[in-house]
Amino acid sequence: MKPIQVGLMGLGTVGAGVYEVLRRNHEEIERRAGRGIQVAMVSRRDTARARALVGDTAAVVADPREIIRHPDIDIVVELIGGYQLARELVLEAIAAGKHVVTANKALLAVHGTEIFEAAQRHGVMVAFEAAVAGGIPIIKALREGLTANRIQWIAGIINGTTNFILSEMRDKGLDFDVVLKEAQRLGYAEADPTFDIEGVDAAHKATLMSAIAFGIPVQFDKAYVEGITKLSATDIRYAEHLGYRIKLLGITKRREGEGVQNRGVELRVHPTLVPAKRLIANVEGAMNAVVVNGDAVGTTLYYGKGAGSEPTASAVIADLVDVTRLATSDPQHRVPHLAFQPGALRDVSVLPMERVVTSYYLRLRVADQAGVLARVAAILAETGISIDALLQREADEVGGEGSTQTDLIILTHEAREGAMNTAMAQLQGLPSVLAPIVRIRKEELA
Ligand code: NDP
Ligand code: HSE
Repeated sequence: MKPIQVGLMGLGTVGAGVYEVLRRNHEEIERRAGRGIQVAMVSRRDTARARALVGDTAAVVADPREIIRHPDIDIVVELIGGYQLARELVLEAIAAGKHVVTANKALLAVHGTEIFEAAQRHGVMVAFEAAVAGGIPIIKALREGLTANRIQWIAGIINGTTNFILSEMRDKGLDFDVVLKEAQRLGYAEADPTFDIEGVDAAHKATLMSAIAFGIPVQFDKAYVEGITKLSATDIRYAEHLGYRIKLLGITKRREGEGVQNRGVELRVHPTLVPAKRLIANVEGAMNAVVVNGDAVGTTLYYGKGAGSEPTASAVIADLVDVTRLATSDPQHRVPHLAFQPGALRDVSVLPMERVVTSYYLRLRVADQAGVLARVAAILAETGISIDALLQREADEVGGEGSTQTDLIILTHEAREGAMNTAMAQLQGLPSVLAPIVRIRKEELA
């Protein structure tokens, strides 16, 4: 059978990886797909560099729309990135009846609903394994491998840049700014690392996992997003002392049975204390890991490289094989884009952060005086927040010889975020609380 014809829009880090892995492993890939997969066209504005990579094995164009318009191209692979141009190209490809593969999490988290509806109308596939956790086949696992389960929760280290920074901060006791510069020097962090360090990239990925896990529309605008820029080496040290590590987690959870206004889905990204004994707490450097809890299977863990040329290409090519296998099948009998049949998606609400339930680490810089601890404990008790553990440092250790200030570190049991906001406002108002309170959420992931 004639090989399926593929056009790569974008031939940068991931595009070049896709080209190279397909070239190297084409024989095995064909045996799996049942048909050859041929890169027939590639696009990038710098056509000389594209030509240098592909030689005369594929047509090289500067304008990605030439790929979409070409009648022989069956699958369009979007590897340009960003929102606007990528959205236009993907919608145009769908309208032209082409199947689409993309690694673009930002695009799908923000415009996914529109894109999947268009794909449904036109009977084409939009595959996006590489968009979440790079080389880890987590989309496949959620959409197919765990299909028997009611997924209860997912928690993932889904941004390698921030995990590298947090690992370095813990290992070397350095502060965020210092490690960020090092990460940029080593090429882990982009020159503009905003999406990574502010948690936006992880929130894009968490949003996609949430939609697939719970059969809900893609709702990035409802996600709570907090990055790692305000984390200090001090809190990483205290957390360690208490038996925890701090990780930037993307979390999505099913919440039910506590009154209708509290039922829904939690969708949040923030630095999180995780017990040091959990496997995910020991995922270091730029690696990714995702923990999924389903009612039948229990807890499962997926670990691997979340970025990089060939790891990401591995996921893109897995999608190419899936699309090749299913290209001639009736659209009604393909795996649904978002795991649930399009007519069976539920409009379950993403809970506002005030209604999220989690436990907390608090650090209060306080005057080292009689009665301070009692007052702090009273405010927490009055707001219904139960203390799980408490650590008070010697004043000398915190502020040096003769210091009159100390750090009070409190771990709480689970509480609603709204109650914690109320408690923190009252605590912050105490004259004996001398600096902004540090609050980091904590998940046992049991
Ligand atoms: P790169 O910046 O390395 O590559 C982008 C490619 O698109 C280049 O070939 C560039 O070539 C081309 N391009 C950029 N702008 C245009 C334009 N206006 N018109 C036509 N072509 C354009 O990006 P990556 O390969 O790193 O990322 C691609 C996608 O994969 C992104 O969505 C990213 O989020 C995602 N991803 C990346 C991972 C990684 O490890 N890098 C991991 C997981 C997902 P030229 O400038 O010559 O036009
Ligand atoms: N910037 C992302 C990361 C790349 O650091 O994980 C992969 O999506």
